Amino acid sequence: MRTQVGIIGAGPAGLTLAMLLRRHGIDCVVLENRDRAYVEKRVRAGLLEQNTVDLLRKLGVADRLDREGLEHHGIYLRYRGANHYVDMTGLTGRHITIYGQQEVVKDLTQALLDRGVEVLFETGNVELHDIETDAPRITYDHAGESHELTCDVIAGCDGFHGVSRQTIKDHITEYDYTYPFGWLGILAEAAPATDELIYAWHEDGFALYTMRSTKISRLYLQVDADDDIANWSDDRIWSELSTRLGNVNEGKIFDKGITPMRSYVAEPMQRGRLFLAGDSAHIVPPTGAKGLNLAVNDVRLLAPALTDLIAKGDKRRADGYTTAALGRVWRAQDFSNYMTQMLHDLGGGPFQRRMQLARLEYVARSEAAARSLAENYVGLPAEPDF
Ligand code: FAD
Ligand code: PHB
Repeated sequence: MRTQVGIIGAGPAGLTLAMLLRRHGIDCVVLENRDRAYVEKRVRAGLLEQNTVDLLRKLGVADRLDREGLEHHGIYLRYRGANHYVDMTGLTGRHITIYGQQEVVKDLTQALLDRGVEVLFETGNVELHDIETDAPRITYDHAGESHELTCDVIAGCDGFHGVSRQTIKDHITEYDYTYPFGWLGILAEAAPATDELIYAWHEDGFALYTMRSTKISRLYLQVDADDDIANWSDDRIWSELSTRLGNVNEGKIFDKGITPMRSYVAEPMQRGRLFLAGDSAHIVPPTGAKGLNLAVNDVRLLAPALTDLIAKGDKRRADGYTTAALGRVWRAQDFSNYMTQMLHDLGGGPFQRRMQLARLEYVARSEAAARSLAENYVGLPAEPDF
């Protein structure tokens, strides 16, 4: 088999890239090792920057997002038992949207299949070959048979634990920081008791009140990195949430899990004819809500670069892809780290806690500090259009 771009991974990066390439008239095939139901149910991020929503609209995949997404205009920072509003729209003129990542994935997958783009689920033993040549290949198993896909380019969109980055591990520099805590996340059948997201600083640790709809709440608690979900009964979760967040509406918990927190960047994000995008190249702690948005931004840059390379033989944008993408990646690293350090129990004792409170007070009282937080949170404007 032959295609122009072999895309590994049907997450937000891979699926959005496929939609963009199709718009540019470039053929692609998406290979995903999980089954479709699993990918469409996997609960992850929920907060979309305006840049991301605008791109999904331009691609014609935002009908349901426009109907069901929840528009938000600010966040509350909570400390010492009181909420302080940061008016994102007032400060930046931009807003954010709550819409579950798995809903984005569902919409993109259906749109691709409707347009005749091949998305192959349950592909096994995916391996990359000849990436330093002009005809890289992917070998994989599908439906009980071995296959080979020859491409002009391979896009490694297979997340942090995928195979693509491993293929070039001897040629990249890794910047890595693992936090000594994680997030316990739940979904509950409960109307949110808040109009906007609440990011809470508390002596017991961080908590976040977010949502998926007017009937479904999503809440997170800072826990130890090696904590076991079995230690957390529903009663214990609700009790700790109300200690840290104040008024919380309880309901049936139908999903819970613990996610580790890390910061990671691989440089460069490309080698030969392999280009990495999204979590395969970088991870941010979720406190800044940037992971999914960065993945979409990478492919916003990658699609025109690959189009120039394949359709016109012009390598300039492809050669500059890493440099173009890393600007936003490192800005998001810094912002995600800033939010994480300001809000979590870092284990540094009373002095560190007073420093965190001083930072929070500064954001609450200074318009300049609030605006700096806000412009990062809503997302700096996207680079010139594709
Ligand atoms: P992914 O979504 O990881 O997609 C990669 C795809 O590649 C997956 O479908 C995977 O199955 C597939 N794949 C992997 N290996 C192979 C292979 N060998 N062959 C074929 N396919 C393969 N961000 C936030 O902003 N807020 C959050 O609350 C938040 N929560 C998260 C919770 C968890 C458990 C995780 C893991 C991440 C979370 N993130 C969060 C981060 C955010 O979800 C990611 O940044 C986003 O998913 C990145 O999209 P992606 O397409 O790059 O990678
Ligand atoms: C979410 O809604 O899941 C969410 C929102 C904001 C974050 C992280 C996760 O910072």
